[in-house]
Amino acid sequence: MKIGIPKEIKNNENRVGMTPAGVFELTKRNHTVYVQATAGEGSGFFDKDYKEVGATILPTINDVYDQSEMIVKVKEPIAEEYPLIKENQVVFTYFHFASSEPLTKAMIASKAICIAYETVEDEEGTLPLLTPMSEVAGRMSVQQGAKYLEKPIKGRGILLGGVPGVKPGKVLVLGAGVVGVQAAKMAAGLGAHVTIMDINMKRLRYVNDVLPNHVVTDFSSEYSIRKHIKDHDLIIGGVLLKGGKAPKLITRDMLKEMRPGTVIVDVAVDQGGCFETTRATTHEDPTYIIDDVVHYCVANMPGAVPYTSTIALTNVTLSYILKLADLGWEKACEKDKSLAKGLNIVKGKIVYEELEGIFD
Ligand SMILES: NC(=O)c1ccc[n+]([C@@H]2O[C@H](COP(=O)([O-])OP(=O)(O)OC[C@H]3O[C@@H](n4cnc5c(N)ncnc54)[C@H](O)[C@@H]3O)[C@@H](O)[C@H]2O)c1
Repeated sequence: MKIGIPKEIKNNENRVGMTPAGVFELTKRNHTVYVQATAGEGSGFFDKDYKEVGATILPTINDVYDQSEMIVKVKEPIAEEYPLIKENQVVFTYFHFASSEPLTKAMIASKAICIAYETVEDEEGTLPLLTPMSEVAGRMSVQQGAKYLEKPIKGRGILLGGVPGVKPGKVLVLGAGVVGVQAAKMAAGLGAHVTIMDINMKRLRYVNDVLPNHVVTDFSSEYSIRKHIKDHDLIIGGVLLKGGKAPKLITRDMLKEMRPGTVIVDVAVDQGGCFETTRATTHEDPTYIIDDVVHYCVANMPGAVPYTSTIALTNVTLSYILKLADLGWEKACEKDKSLAKGLNIVKGKIVYEELEGIFD
């Protein structure tokens, strides 16, 4: 199969759909891989690295789309890319169709085969191609939160780990899923005192078993959240209601209960956010302040660490890419039910149930 790796053109997106290690696996199986010139540079992979493992470097994005039967990328196509996508071309990437009517309509019109990373689902109901990005965002939320707690950027002026003779900072994590556990682990590693909350007792039991004793669990309720926000320095939101908008766990009036300079990081911003005062920000201008509370609400946190994120993402996409390349999309989806769940739009028709009729 002819597989194309275009350069990402969305603002501030430095990840790339495939590493040289992935290209190596494909060329070994006699597939042809076209990589757009400089596509991997933002992630630390150069044209010569791709050439060494048998890729052909093409100068423009048009060349890559023109010559490829399957496109593998990271972010959903943006308007400039819509006309490049051809009938019967397989496009394997994050799409998040439910959040964009123009994208959905353009992909229907293209008659391409759109397989969305975010809906590939294994037998346990987990989303294997979303997990690594939640792991990155969860770990990063503490790194960012610790930075914005510094006084020059309007934080409380707290060192999360404290020092001998000074007690550590306190971190409140809402949600004990992938994001929450990774955040709690990082915060605990820095020596902070951590409280982690969920409504799922199984998750709280898991956290209690695997994380150290200075990570304490609490059942999530409005009453207990109101109590904790008064004395926690960094609050991280990592809740998710599958298929729905995030619940608003921190309301506007609660900001007044927090100490000035408290930092709140809403990782769930991509699902509408779990703080009432959340509005999506970018890496260029990641924070804003309301009632002396610093809000960090970047919707694509992993984009800031493209080297780690690209490798983490391609570690999990590669096995599916190999199946699609070896068998073609129809046979690959017939054989692999997890991959078949990724099919969203096929040759002009919506085939993913949750998407049917949403933009009629
Ligand atoms: N901003 C970014 O760059 C970025 C990156 C990756 C993931 N995310 C987002 O982070 C969010 C969390 O992702 P995840 O992979 O950890 O999801 P997950 O499903 O693994 O975990 C979510 C947890 O929230 C819990 N929860 C639900 N309602 C709750 C409540 N009222 N109180 C406390 N906990 C509650 C669930 O029980 C679950 O354990 C998602 O919205 C995801 O899209 C954002």
